[in-house]
Amino acid sequence: LRIGVVIVAAGSGQRLGYGIPKAEVGLAGRTLLEHALDSVLASGVAACLCVAVPPGDTRLRGICARAGGKTPVTVVEGGSSRADSVGRALAGLGPGLDAVLVHDAARALTPPEVFRRVAAALASGAQAVIPAVPVADTIKTASPSSPQERSIAGEKVAGTPERAILRAVQTPQGFDARILAEAHGWLESAGEDAEGITDDAMLVERRGVTVFLVPGSEEALKITTELDLMTAEALAARRLA
Ligand code: CTP
Ligand code: MG
Repeated sequence: LRIGVVIVAAGSGQRLGYGIPKAEVGLAGRTLLEHALDSVLASGVAACLCVAVPPGDTRLRGICARAGGKTPVTVVEGGSSRADSVGRALAGLGPGLDAVLVHDAARALTPPEVFRRVAAALASGAQAVIPAVPVADTIKTASPSSPQERSIAGEKVAGTPERAILRAVQTPQGFDARILAEAHGWLESAGEDAEGITDDAMLVERRGVTVFLVPGSEEALKITTELDLMTAEALAARRLA
């Protein structure tokens, strides 16, 4: 299969709170984007890459210009939401691809094997495939307390989904190229129907496409907060040891 990889790196990193785009933040001496590019290139699955970076960002553009070697790496300006950035990067990948993998720069330490697992499932005939891990916590659904109950607490438990069937999903998420392009085309015109769509797989699920699950990795954690960055530093140090 001819596979293109999108890396979305256009977020501002509000929750990390460093005052710079998250993809520029350092981890074991390199930026998060450099780690993410390394993983993709080491996996050997990408025929080409497109990276969405924050508007006006020259540092991340420079990193992309130096990356890739024989693999072409293009850059686009990201949008105001993650989905918008994915849509722009898809357009920047160019034609002639069988499949596309969409990856978060924030999952900087995702092992190359995860990319290969996703690519292998696509090669075996999946139209959509995502990496996932079992959930460690028991997960509850919540609903607002009644006016009488509100003096006790604002929310109460509505239910408890069976933990054994829950999965926490990661990236890269892989798709048949045409199906993903159609799904993003719909999203651009969807308005408020698009609210609550939090990953790319949801877009194709609503079209009835079967989304297969392959094992993710605890190292593919999404670096969101300072605590995540501390965890990632420890993981990177373990790798170097
Ligand atoms: N992303 C993007 N364009 C946006 C928003 C997010 O490309 N407009 C990317 C981020 O760069 C990140 C991934 O989507 O790689 C997941 O987003 P998240 O972890 O929320 O990153 P940020 O939006 O940067 O962080 P925050 O929400 O804390 O500001
Ligand atoms: Mg965000």
